[in-house]
Amino acid sequence: MSSFKIHDDSAAVAAAAAERIASVASAGGHIALAGGSTPEKAYELLRTASLRGASLWFSDDRAVGPEAPESNYAMAARSLLDHIPEPDRPRVHRIEGELGPEAAADRYEALVRAELGDKPHFDLILLGLGPDAHTASLFPGKPAVGESRRFVVAVPEPGMKPWVPRVTFTLPLINAAREVLFLVAGADKAPAVARAFGEPPDPESPAAHVRPDPGRLVVMLDEEAAGILADD
Ligand code: 6PG
Repeated sequence: MSSFKIHDDSAAVAAAAAERIASVASAGGHIALAGGSTPEKAYELLRTASLRGASLWFSDDRAVGPEAPESNYAMAARSLLDHIPEPDRPRVHRIEGELGPEAAADRYEALVRAELGDKPHFDLILLGLGPDAHTASLFPGKPAVGESRRFVVAVPEPGMKPWVPRVTFTLPLINAAREVLFLVAGADKAPAVARAFGEPPDPESPAAHVRPDPGRLVVMLDEEAAGILADD
């Protein structure tokens, strides 16, 4: 099942996303956060929500330490986690990028299996979309897109900047989620949105392969990002 929600602007996308995250968190869900600018605004809005009982994960990160400027964890800490008072804090499982991409991917895969079993179903996975139609750290033409066995893999060479190795959830893990929520804003994303979600989708676009089954695909867009899709 998929649904598209078009909002006036990126602030409205962030507000709707924050509401959805808060609702899954209040039910004690396992939620994977994404990097990127639109999620960052949503995380800021969540500072006043209680995330107690929820478990936060990361759908991808750069293979760097938790304080590096490129770190998605650092962005989540800065925008949200560092502001939550102790009683309302969620459990946080970060990708240990400082171990290097391979070891960090192995550790995260083991953690996913330990917490969620060998058939893991996240309650909510947040994703962004790059202008090249990458999502998480699944870049067009790179081997991680074709991974069919593992849930988390290393990406030694990303397809765009920052040019640091990554660690990413794979399509089997993403497509097993109960809900996958894309957050996409800005006119520069309109062609990638059309490639990922237009009819027919472009198979070269990694995001076109994100189709949770039996889970729900929700795509939150601002009007600019939806521009080409809406004209189809
Ligand atoms: C990352 C992200 C990545 C991101 C997209 C969109 O680690 O870089 O997880 O997949 O979501 O590149 O990013 P923006 O929202 O900043 O455009």
